[in-house]
Amino acid sequence: MSDFTLPVLPVLLCIVVLFSVLVCGVFLYVQARQKVRLSSDENSNTTGHVWDENLRELNNPMPRWWMWLFYGNIVFALAYLWMFPGLGGFVGMLDWTSEQQYQTEAKKLNDDIEPLYAQFRTQPLEAVATDTRAKAIGQRLFLNNCAQCHGSDARGSKGFPNLADKDWLYGGSLQAIQTSIANGRKGMMPSMLAAVGDDKDARQVAQYVLSLSGLENDAVKAQLGREKFKAVCTGCHGGEGTGNPLLGAPNLTDKVWLHGGTETAIVETISRGRAGNMPAHEALLSADQIRLLSAYVWGLSNTVQTASLQ
Ligand code: HEC
Ligand code: HEC
Repeated sequence: MSDFTLPVLPVLLCIVVLFSVLVCGVFLYVQARQKVRLSSDENSNTTGHVWDENLRELNNPMPRWWMWLFYGNIVFALAYLWMFPGLGGFVGMLDWTSEQQYQTEAKKLNDDIEPLYAQFRTQPLEAVATDTRAKAIGQRLFLNNCAQCHGSDARGSKGFPNLADKDWLYGGSLQAIQTSIANGRKGMMPSMLAAVGDDKDARQVAQYVLSLSGLENDAVKAQLGREKFKAVCTGCHGGEGTGNPLLGAPNLTDKVWLHGGTETAIVETISRGRAGNMPAHEALLSADQIRLLSAYVWGLSNTVQTASLQ
């Protein structure tokens, strides 16, 4: 597909490119023939510039080899423009595209590493999770594709879940993890301020949320917040506040926090809502890579008796 939006642009670009090359050639030719005469003395071979009393600049033509180097460059430029894309919409005689080159190199690389992945393809994921070589590959893949959000130790940070503990938003089975990676996840909590009332109500609900996991709270406010929580929040977080893996609604009764477990953070969650986005990796990674990654992530919080698998 052409990147040019106006049909006249490629033509204009051709003219500009060819004209510049031509002008360079003409300039070189003229320079090689004519001498600039700056000195008033007919027989002097200097430009007339003098420094430090007796240092003079000679007015010699450029050396031959230097000139030919420039002419060579012009020939190279024309040959290049003939073979490769560069002249407006002309694709070049070699039909070369960067896309094609990338595809060829990527295919070669994939063919090269194919046997490496093939050996894990037939194994159950639990077995892959205990294989040290698979783990090493999984870790590399994780560092390259996931660490920017989940941290190089997979322990996450605010808004990005810790993948190395046993607390899961969407479930911690190998299957659930694989789905999270391949299809991505969107945790949507809309702003609930209007539903709970005003800021004061939001703080009361927050006190109740704190009480759910046994954190220090104001018992009176928590009691007042309880009713509102039951009315507004249980649809997603469950009657006991233990969450819902289908929606990615976190368990509010453990002490694990995605967005922070202080009154301020919880009030912010209630009033502004939260939207966590785990991008789908299906199109970015191969099925083999996603399998190894799932096994790696699963293995971070599960230990399998290697012996029982053999
Ligand atoms: C752009 C940032 C980003 C990248 C890159 C990313 N993740 Fe995530 N991931 C998230 C966020 C944010 C969530 C939480 C989604 C939510 O809040 O609902 C998440 C959730 C997950 C979950 C579900 C956790 C749970 O508790 O159920 C898994 C598993 C996961 N990511 C694994 C990975 C792996 C493996 C990779 C690398 C292939 C990866 N992520 C790359 C941001 C990212
Ligand atoms: C429509 C479903 C839905 C409703 C209703 C809802 N939530 Fe949420 N809530 C979520 C989801 C999904 C998340 C996770 C957001 C993310 O992945 O970033 C969340 C996150 C939270 C968090 C952050 C937990 C953490 O670990 O940091 C708190 C606190 C919370 N909700 C409290 C509430 C309260 C209080 C109410 C009622 C006022 C409420 N939620 C109503 C879906 C909901």
